[in-house]
Amino acid sequence: ARKIIIDTDPGQDDAAAIMLAFGSPEEIDLLGITTVAGNVPLSLTARNARIICELCNRTDVKVFAGAERPVARPLVTAEHVHGKTGLDGPVLAEPTMPLQEQDAADFIIETLLTENEGAVTLCTLGPLTNIALALTKAPEIARRVRELVMMGGGFFEGGNITPAAEFNVYVDPEAAEIVFRSGIPIVMMPLDVTHRVLTHKARVQKIREIGSPAAIAMAEMLEFFERFDIEKYGTDGGPLHDPTVIAYLLRPELFTGRDCNVEIETTSALTAGMTVVDWWQVTGRKHNAKVMRHIDDEGFFDLLTERLARI
Ligand code: BDR
Ligand code: CA
Repeated sequence: ARKIIIDTDPGQDDAAAIMLAFGSPEEIDLLGITTVAGNVPLSLTARNARIICELCNRTDVKVFAGAERPVARPLVTAEHVHGKTGLDGPVLAEPTMPLQEQDAADFIIETLLTENEGAVTLCTLGPLTNIALALTKAPEIARRVRELVMMGGGFFEGGNITPAAEFNVYVDPEAAEIVFRSGIPIVMMPLDVTHRVLTHKARVQKIREIGSPAAIAMAEMLEFFERFDIEKYGTDGGPLHDPTVIAYLLRPELFTGRDCNVEIETTSALTAGMTVVDWWQVTGRKHNAKVMRHIDDEGFFDLLTERLARI
């Protein structure tokens, strides 16, 4: 099984990604979950990650808290999308499993230095702060990472938090810049992909019908999560961003994209956090990411539903 660390700011769609990993033990060996401030402040993302573990009877998974704020800016959160707790929707018990004492960035560094070179994949579902802090503290980890698969950015699709920027990159553009310049092989799941993955009513219903506590809670989370985007985009359901990262590990053939140069805008007030993707290869700048553009959304939801049923 592929060894991964999930770095996350749950978030209902982050929860779906974590559950997709839990439902795929044959392919995925989850070494730990690291949490970051993003959708909601750090104390809540660290709480929410543990709630998801307990809901899925996976209290064996270690959860680490990381950065409370972006590397160079004040934190921007998204309660307007995710609700006050970040996991609004179902009634959820407070977690009882402990939070690890080690800092998230230190756990990432230690894991990459102890596991074989090229063995560990980083899956990022929130702002890239923890990864940037780890790279700054221990730059030698960059060449040890197998791949970093991230949800973030957008190009032809534009942004979702500003016209130019996607939320995860917008919150911490300086961190994203450090990651994109690190030399780590990056796979990027932008809004161009995730906006094609909509929680249609029939899809949520199929998840509910699995009938387990985890699946029912997931259905309730999705119904809360989608309400904002249904209004915003006028679609049947909202985009389910973060599980595309885990789906890529399980079924890369669901996605198509190409190698590109990606630079991050960090200075402009108007376009801060924009991912400037050289899709048409006009700059000659070095490729630093595989940027995805298309997804088989039916195949994605079949996979998600099948794996949630295994939890
Ligand atoms: C991203 O922002 C967050 O609100 C979601 O969890 C996802 O990671 C989408 O822009
Ligand atoms: Ca997220």
